[in-house]
Amino acid sequence: MLLIALVVLFHFYIAFGASCNCSPVLVPVHVDVFVPKDPTDIFAGLKSNLSSLRRVEAIYSIYGLFCQPESMPASGGGKDPGVLQLLVHGITYTNQYWSPSVEEFQNYSYTAFSCDRGLSSLAIDWVGVGLSTRPANSSDMQHPTVAAALSQLAHHLQTVSLLPGVPPFKTIIGIGHSAGSGLLTFAAIIDGARSPFAALILTSALSDAGAAPTAPSSLVPSARDDTPLRWGALDPGYITAPNRSIFYPVDSTAFSPRMQLFDAFTRDVGSVAILAQTGVVSLAAQNYGGRVAKVLGAADQFICADGRCEDVAALSAAEGVLWPEAESFELVVLQNSGHDLNLDFFAPAAFRTFVGLVKKFSR
Ligand SMILES: *[C@@H]1O[C@H](CO)[C@@H](O)[C@H](O)[C@H]1NC(C)=O
Ligand SMILES: *[C@@H]1O[C@H](CO)[C@@H](O)[C@H](O)[C@H]1NC(C)=O
Ligand SMILES: *[C@@H]1O[C@H](CO)[C@@H](O)[C@H](O)[C@H]1NC(C)=O
Ligand SMILES: *[C@@H]1O[C@H](CO)[C@@H](O)[C@H](O)[C@H]1NC(C)=O
Repeated sequence: MLLIALVVLFHFYIAFGASCNCSPVLVPVHVDVFVPKDPTDIFAGLKSNLSSLRRVEAIYSIYGLFCQPESMPASGGGKDPGVLQLLVHGITYTNQYWSPSVEEFQNYSYTAFSCDRGLSSLAIDWVGVGLSTRPANSSDMQHPTVAAALSQLAHHLQTVSLLPGVPPFKTIIGIGHSAGSGLLTFAAIIDGARSPFAALILTSALSDAGAAPTAPSSLVPSARDDTPLRWGALDPGYITAPNRSIFYPVDSTAFSPRMQLFDAFTRDVGSVAILAQTGVVSLAAQNYGGRVAKVLGAADQFICADGRCEDVAALSAAEGVLWPEAESFELVVLQNSGHDLNLDFFAPAAFRTFVGLVKKFSR
């Protein structure tokens, strides 16, 4: 699997604060994987024999917002042993989950928060989403393809300079949200000891997500029926979420109503396959040897319903079993946060937790 080249879309920088430079990037990655012929196979082909699989080979362009603290040592001669956070959004979200694009919501930007604390990040759009390549056929947007693109991207970031003056990064830490955590988990299952990720911070995802109330199909209509003007040309396997209020705490004083408006404006698509295959998080990442943390919100109506996140020690033990070779495993429950840890009033506590974990995992 080769990576071809890097295309820089624009050369201007968006400044969050005095100390942070951001730039949009587009990185082509080569993906060559097997996917289940049946896109609703909940194990994404991991338990299938070859006759129920088909090969997908493609080059996808991955869009991302790259941000780097200004004080970071520039290339010069020495190799920068830097750490890069690869930020992976959840289903129907985009890179904007990590960095809302409007001034009003700058204090909900994990990108800005972590940059201010000396950490670089690349918040990407999944294959199929936002400004990344959207496969013509939604049945190519499955866990094997989207996760392989993440692994290929991480390898690229470790070996090739992302931008002039930015040396390759020694340590890539994957931070996922919700289904994005599922994609990073799938990548860890596939890549095992060869994983390019030194550590994974998996937010708002539990292995028995199947036990959580699943969204009725009326809540995940085909994107083309939901918004014909924008998505009318897509096949019906591309889906969206008209109402994402379940991702916020029940307590309506816990978040800004304006954030929910912004949330509605920034909706994107997912696929029937990605939704069906979230069951992969119940499988063990047998050979992954990096460090792993799970971060959950106690007020997550979706993952932590019915008090499932109350007994932290028991939950931690149950989840840790699925990471037998991991260098370390820990689980954190944030008291007031909802499913979208980044988008309610408790976001600063979540951000402090992520930065603390990244700094610990970088040592
Ligand atoms: C492969 O899997 C299919 C579907 O589960 C099954 O019908 C078939 O018998 C299997 N073939 C082999 C060779 O195991
Ligand atoms: C999408 O790809 C699948 C698998 O190759 C195929 O069965 C299906 O007909 C394709 N759909 C469209 C709309 O081309
Ligand atoms: C979204 O769903 C919630 C709960 O079902 C409801 O209270 C709210 O009014 C809905 N919002 C919109 C914009 O439809
Ligand atoms: C962001 O700042 C606004 C205005 O100062 C404040 O009301 C809000 O609680 C802050 N949000 C977060 C997540 O810190």
